[in-house]
Amino acid sequence: MGITVGSNQDTFNYKVVSQFAMVTVLWGIVGMLVGLIIAAQLIWPEITFNIPWLSFGRLRPLHTNAVIFAFGGSGLFAASYYIVQRTCQTRLFCDKLAAFTFWGWQAVIVLAAVTLPLGITSSKEYAELEWPIDLLITVVWVAYAIVFFGTIIQRKTKHIYVSNWFFGAYILVIAILHIFNNLEMPASLWKSYSAYSGVQDAMVEWWYGHNAVGFMLTTSFLGMMYYFIPKEAERPIYSYRLSVVHFWALTFTYMWAGPHHLQHTSLPDWTQSLGTVFSLILLAPSWGGMINGIMTLSGAWYKLRTDPILKFLVVALSFYGMSTFEGSMMSIKTVNSLSHYTDWTIGHVHSGALGWVGMITIGSLYYLIPRLVGQKDMYSTRWIELHFWIATIGVVLYIAAMWIAGVMQGLMWRAFEPDGTLTYSFVESVKATYPFYVIRLVGGLCYFAGMLLMAYNVFKTVQGKKFVNPPIPLTIQH
Ligand code: HEM
Ligand code: HEM
Repeated sequence: MGITVGSNQDTFNYKVVSQFAMVTVLWGIVGMLVGLIIAAQLIWPEITFNIPWLSFGRLRPLHTNAVIFAFGGSGLFAASYYIVQRTCQTRLFCDKLAAFTFWGWQAVIVLAAVTLPLGITSSKEYAELEWPIDLLITVVWVAYAIVFFGTIIQRKTKHIYVSNWFFGAYILVIAILHIFNNLEMPASLWKSYSAYSGVQDAMVEWWYGHNAVGFMLTTSFLGMMYYFIPKEAERPIYSYRLSVVHFWALTFTYMWAGPHHLQHTSLPDWTQSLGTVFSLILLAPSWGGMINGIMTLSGAWYKLRTDPILKFLVVALSFYGMSTFEGSMMSIKTVNSLSHYTDWTIGHVHSGALGWVGMITIGSLYYLIPRLVGQKDMYSTRWIELHFWIATIGVVLYIAAMWIAGVMQGLMWRAFEPDGTLTYSFVESVKATYPFYVIRLVGGLCYFAGMLLMAYNVFKTVQGKKFVNPPIPLTIQH
């Protein structure tokens, strides 16, 4: 397996796309394996022999960082670099800088994989990495922005395709969030303290945390969706006008919804209510986008019967619709007073993460990878079909178990006896949750098995072939 790199300006730069696509599969497997270990720890707490750097508290952030930034992030680099070139009919701006983003991002991932198990953490959720790594992330991200927007500037097409708007917003917003949430005072090489304190610190953290979900796990993947669904269905977007309305409405509304993570806390009450209101409004653009994606299949519904890639992409959208509806409901204070601190939140997270983020990435990679080696199809379509079914069963087992467990926990914690004493002790709710943790583990194993199958299918597809940098067509075709 060799890699051909063209210096000819009339070819696309697929090399960096190929590199990011390959590591996406690898980091997906690693991140989900860590997810399985922590899921097992919640059933058998001593399964990692009480070794400190394999403890739940250290592996959990390793899991979230690996799946969000290594798996999701690499998938987004691959997709955005591919789509921006195809839709702008031009080569990526500056090959060297693009290569730097690949190696720089991998360095960030490796540093995270070493420091988190060692217990080096800033202790802010989804922003745990310490200040030297934060600085490296900033440099890589600025390089990413230069490559992406540089490509848009040198485009050969007049129009900027909607996917690029979604990617552009994600790149800009993540830069702003990362910088402001990580303003900190270094105390030593591996320890820093946040510039904010108390409730301000919490608000900045969840302004970041929610928009990390909004832009790193949603807006960006919508960019993927708006390219790969029309391509795979061989149909234009159902309504291009709706996609533009979707973009502006979504990016504006997401920014204000962060306080729903801090319901019933010392955050001023009006701020919490503002979070609820914007979260409810958010349902409209979210569902508008979902409907736009699904309706793109108008006239091509029959393809769903035979095309497992389309199944992945469309089921991903259904999970997107489900998790956004659920999120809007969970942001209502009365619902949140039941769901918060319970496994319901974990169910919501994974219906978005496994169902939406995972499936849209997997479907897009199955479209993309054969094309990177000059082929139209993956080695085995039947294996994709099998992957689709075990992944879907896996997600359903995972989220159904967490929903039941979550509602059960919430109800047990608030049950009172007539004399005012608690009906259940906390440990009784933990005991009642065990069977659901086992079901979650089985669901996770199914999803993970699908990833292994994917890795083998990818290996067989690229084995003995060259990653090519194909010529840019003279006629406009994406
Ligand atoms: C085999 C697949 C997976 C398994 C078994 C798994 C398992 C877990 C477990 C056990 C937790 C900790 C729950 C707790 O603290 O009670 C967790 C948390 C989390 N996982 Fe996963 N996970 C998987 C895949 C993913 C993927 C693909 C993503 C994202 C794209 C993801 C994102 C997250 C996030 C964001 C959290 C933190 C949730 C929160 O703090 O509310 N997971 N996962
Ligand atoms: C309209 C869209 C959405 C709204 C209004 C929303 C709302 C919410 C709410 C209210 C919570 C619970 C906060 C708490 O009680 O602690 C939550 C948690 C979470 N949601 Fe969503 N959600 C939406 C979509 C999504 C999607 C699509 C994903 C993933 C791709 C996602 C990922 C998460 C994560 C990771 C958390 C856990 C954060 C943490 O505590 O660590 N959400 N969301």
